[in-house]
Amino acid sequence: MATAEQLKALLRSYVDEDGDQFLTVSMQIAAQAARRGQGKLAQELRELIDEAKRRSVQPSVGKSVPIARPAGELADLIQASYPKTQLVDMVLADSAMQSLKRVLMEYRQQEKLRSHGMSARRKLLLVGPPGSGKTMTAAALAGELKLPLLGVRLDGLITKFMGETASKLRLVFDAMIPTRGVYLFDEFDAIGGDRGRPNDVGEMRRVLNSFLQFLEADDSNSLILAATNHHEILDPALFRRFDDVIRYGLPEADHIERLAKIRLNMFRLNRVHWDEVRNVATGLSYAEVARACSEAAKTAVLRDLTDISTDLLVSALKERSSITSTTNTD
Ligand SMILES: Nc1ncnc2c1ncn2[C@@H]1O[C@H](COP(=O)(O)OP(=O)(O)OP(=O)(O)O)[C@@H](O)[C@H]1O
Ligand SMILES: [Mg+2]
Repeated sequence: MATAEQLKALLRSYVDEDGDQFLTVSMQIAAQAARRGQGKLAQELRELIDEAKRRSVQPSVGKSVPIARPAGELADLIQASYPKTQLVDMVLADSAMQSLKRVLMEYRQQEKLRSHGMSARRKLLLVGPPGSGKTMTAAALAGELKLPLLGVRLDGLITKFMGETASKLRLVFDAMIPTRGVYLFDEFDAIGGDRGRPNDVGEMRRVLNSFLQFLEADDSNSLILAATNHHEILDPALFRRFDDVIRYGLPEADHIERLAKIRLNMFRLNRVHWDEVRNVATGLSYAEVARACSEAAKTAVLRDLTDISTDLLVSALKERSSITSTTNTD
């Protein structure tokens, strides 16, 4: 029989989703059974192990990528998650939505493109105001493509020493080949500031240059996304290095209704006067409208309502507007 230590190791490998470790421990248990003369048990265990191995080397066509778990130094630089977000959860300007659908379509057919010496667009710059859906886009692309979302932590990346920063950047770009995923450099302006600005520190310029070199040299199968609020401070040289620049903005006239209908789809909304809602919500970001919808939903649940009224939605939006305007004047 397996020892307590072996059982613990088996469970640990299950928790860590470490298939190799699971098989190693299983083989130890089988070998031990054989040594103890439990031939039948040893044989049964080996057969099970062989079957497990066969299944784990099945071609991965159409399957999701194995769990990515940044280890060692990478663990401080990359945060992995597995979003379920889809593009239909988002409301976007037509041009942005078209660009994203095109990214998905090309990525899904990358083999076909490659066989003709072409490549799918994978390197995207997302530009727009706070709460417009840039980070959510990274989650939606990952969710749609069943890839891990690998958020690169710029605070961990940028150190006082250029050499160190460049080698960390290399570590991240090197990971893009074995660990296919959506790599997001959020708040990219931290490294993407205009290289020509007179007060620019030489260090940042060099960091940006090495980022650009890595970006250009990259021929992995990963998606690389950089997101920023500050279009104006970004270096024009950057725009050239990306396959596409996707622009985000405030919700358009009909977007508030569309977003509210997505967010409140578990309630009846046929009594809502959308004109009134739109008037109150004008000027709010998508994130703020989404937040107000969640507040309205919460109130409805607590009051056992199955309908959302105009008043309920309007007062949640007003509350959001007042919070935003007080924080903006701080
Ligand atoms: N276009 C959108 N469609 C649907 N929901 C959205 C959209 N934009 C934002 N949201 C909602 O607001 C939340 C916050 O948005 P997100 O973090 O993507 O904004 P951001 O553009 O990355 O902002 P920041 O510049 O502050 O990082 C999302 O998780 C989502 O709930
Ligand atoms: Mg963001």
